[in-house]
Amino acid sequence: MPPRTLFDLETPAVVVDLDRLEENLAEMAALCARHGVRLRPHVKSHKCVPLARRQLELGAVGLSAAKVSEAAVFAAAGVDDLLVAYPVVGRDKIDALGGLSGAVATLVDDAAATDALSAGWSSSRRPLDVFVKVDVGLGRVGVPVERVESVLALARHVERSPRLRFAGLLTHAGHAYRAADPAGVEAVGVAEGCSMVDLAERLRARGLEVPAVSVGSTPTARAAVAVPGVTELRPGVYVFNDAQQVALGVVPMTRCALTVWTRVVSRPDPGRAICDAGSKTFSSDRGAHGTDGVPHGVAPDAPSLRLVGLSEEHGWLRATEGEAPAPGAHLRLVPAHACAVVNLARRLWVVQGERVVDCWSVDAAGCVQ
Ligand SMILES: Cc1ncc(COP(=O)(O)O)c(C=O)c1O
Repeated sequence: MPPRTLFDLETPAVVVDLDRLEENLAEMAALCARHGVRLRPHVKSHKCVPLARRQLELGAVGLSAAKVSEAAVFAAAGVDDLLVAYPVVGRDKIDALGGLSGAVATLVDDAAATDALSAGWSSSRRPLDVFVKVDVGLGRVGVPVERVESVLALARHVERSPRLRFAGLLTHAGHAYRAADPAGVEAVGVAEGCSMVDLAERLRARGLEVPAVSVGSTPTARAAVAVPGVTELRPGVYVFNDAQQVALGVVPMTRCALTVWTRVVSRPDPGRAICDAGSKTFSSDRGAHGTDGVPHGVAPDAPSLRLVGLSEEHGWLRATEGEAPAPGAHLRLVPAHACAVVNLARRLWVVQGERVVDCWSVDAAGCVQ
């Protein structure tokens, strides 16, 4: 018998609230449409073909993926406009990139890697669109935004490379996750957009054609999209939101669409309970870029409960007020970082209220190659 309500699901289960998901999808689509900015959502957050199709139906121009193997899942499902927003380094990866059908784009921050891409891209295909990755403050990959000459030299290098086409500039302001408050998040978003548009203008003044300025993260989306000259936005986790986004003040808890449905298995003392979802469900990721003080999970229906620790199959819940729930109690927990939870799951149960209405397989789960 297929499960009809949440209470028919085996725990732990990863659950998506369809109405909240739709609200999140529609809001981002409307935001981009209002500003005339192309939406190219990042699928690393959901890894689900049906969800990607919905994003495209709502106006997304194509998809971003983190890895070539992840992009391949969506290409095989018929998506014909894919950006691998990650450095594609190594012959095996370049070959795999070449195996993707449809329009394909990627990024570089290095001249030798550009040469390898150029050498590996088949002359029988249309040229590979290549962005120059710019670092606006995260300090991960990318040419630092203030090094105008280096960006120009690399962009010219791409332009001159056989079988490649310079697609524009691309950044991800992940350091917004380190911001202290909503004003700090907004400042990072404004700086992300402004510094990239300013860089594009400087390059144009030097005679370079810069077709696109691609920015995006969920926390910075609202500020960056409003900067004139930004042409493309690539948010990922906005589809679900999570405790990180709530802690940053990006959305209220009512906009979190993904929860772990779990059951209490023990209450060793009145203020502490143990549930059946541990690090094999939640991962240990509380946000890669430093959102401070976010617990592994929070319980929207029991705000005094915090998921404060994880072992593989056990979650440690602490009640800051009153008693922790007794064994047998079910709980919905909003994870700190939804993308990491999805990657560990095999399926997402889709619900409206308590009713199970669908089940999506996580088509690109584990596609980290
Ligand atoms: C290159 C790139 N673009 C876009 C995103 C999406 O950002 P977010 O998960 O904040 O929505 C990420 C996230 O890691 C990324 O690395």
